[in-house]
Amino acid sequence: MGLKDEDGNPVLTTVWGYNGQYPGPTILAKKDQPINVKWLNRLVNEAGAPLPHLLPVDKSIHWADPGGPGVPIVTHLHGGHTESESDGLPGAWYTPYAQNKGPQFIKGEHIPYHYDNDQEAATLWYHDHALGITRLNVYAGLAGFYLLTDGFENGLRKSKKLPDPLYDIGLAIQDRMFTTDGQLFYPSDPEEGGENAMSGANHSSQEHDVPNPSVLPEFFGDVILVNGKAWPILNVEPRQYRFRLLNGSDSRFYNLKLTEGVKIWQIGSDQGFLNKPVEHDALLISPGERMDVVIDFSGANLWKKTIIITNDASTPFPDGDPVDSDDSPVQIMAFKVDVPLNKAYPLTHIPASFHKPLPKIPTATNVRKLILFEGTDEYGRLKPMLGTVEDGAMEFMDPITENPALNGSEIWEIHNLTPDAHPIHLHLVFFRVLNSQEFTGDVDDTGRLANIELVGPLIKPEPGQDGKKDTYPIAPGEVTRLIATFDREGHYVWHCHILSHEDHEMMRPYYVGNLPD
Ligand code: C2O
Ligand code: CU
Repeated sequence: MGLKDEDGNPVLTTVWGYNGQYPGPTILAKKDQPINVKWLNRLVNEAGAPLPHLLPVDKSIHWADPGGPGVPIVTHLHGGHTESESDGLPGAWYTPYAQNKGPQFIKGEHIPYHYDNDQEAATLWYHDHALGITRLNVYAGLAGFYLLTDGFENGLRKSKKLPDPLYDIGLAIQDRMFTTDGQLFYPSDPEEGGENAMSGANHSSQEHDVPNPSVLPEFFGDVILVNGKAWPILNVEPRQYRFRLLNGSDSRFYNLKLTEGVKIWQIGSDQGFLNKPVEHDALLISPGERMDVVIDFSGANLWKKTIIITNDASTPFPDGDPVDSDDSPVQIMAFKVDVPLNKAYPLTHIPASFHKPLPKIPTATNVRKLILFEGTDEYGRLKPMLGTVEDGAMEFMDPITENPALNGSEIWEIHNLTPDAHPIHLHLVFFRVLNSQEFTGDVDDTGRLANIELVGPLIKPEPGQDGKKDTYPIAPGEVTRLIATFDREGHYVWHCHILSHEDHEMMRPYYVGNLPD
């Protein structure tokens, strides 16, 4: 199967990968064993000359403009409790051999990034974060897993409560489009993306000449890749497998279900184990989130069966176009239970409880009232933004307003004034979701929000979303309250993980500690 060229040879799709791999190599790290990584930008041709971008770059938005040749990159460890200089901030980008560098560049090319790994076992991932072209660099292939392990996890493996690493598999789900000759396709403006790419956008009448290439309000691809393969099939043994689900897509949410009535057992969220496994009929995963799950293929009724992971999340989520059965993204991948059991590895059984209380909710030392807002840019395009209730929506370059004290614990009350859900991600910390609630209020056209009235009951996070999180989808019309302890000084960012939003102003800097002048 697969596309062939005129001579009958398989068509190779050009991607960009860390160490030439897409997804990038999985980094296996151990708690309390720091590692150093040099992220070398070698997006150059055989003669060493910088490559142009594979995909259409919108130069009208605020981006990592190198002012010369070469594609800027910078790598962020998503979920890492990382020092600011190694965080991979959007302004810390650099072109090949660091010929050109962004204003926040300190390390990466000549000096390695440093990861302390002073956090518990978790499914982290690394990906590009260059200002204004993150969506394109990630789309081209710059993403990979970073699995952090610890003694607790090892104990569970040794006591056969969790599968051996052999049966512990990362699944990075990413939607893509392809040209008829098998190359990655990314629309150069919303029209080119077809109806799907435009859906839900406030596609306001355009009195201005919209730049081309142009950033999109959202991107939804019609081919689902898992670990870089379209709709793959994994042949499995009749036993429990552990899967680290990652939504590495630009904008698409997935509401995952298994056919044959098979259940998904969630054992961990973004940054660690849950107290006890949670059984799901359907599992929602928004861009940037990870779900650590176990699937049991051992039932006698499943032998020789094919079990499909399906998706029914609308685009945009939750009130956009439904995915109906004619749409290709209804299917994600399949498992075929036809590999004889390898007796060298005993069967494993997840316990009813991990007896691992979640970290205590700290006492808040400060409360912030924040907003998610949809504005319009100078070309009449949708411009999603973050901001504060008092000051309204702000751009990435506006002065820092989120400035937690070092070791302060803050509640962030994030009011979603837009019609869509936005997966909000904070660098550096993990947070706990306290609750969500519907609200009403008066919003002016700059996003300032007054006369807030809380109208609905307090909604607790879903089981499985009450653990250690770093990315959480905030529903339209609701305020979601998160709490985090900001325990490292320096520059960080918080943003929407819909990459098309992050690249177009839905990102803000924040600073922990006394702000330098
Ligand atoms: Cu996964 Cu700031 O990103
Ligand atoms: Cu968003």
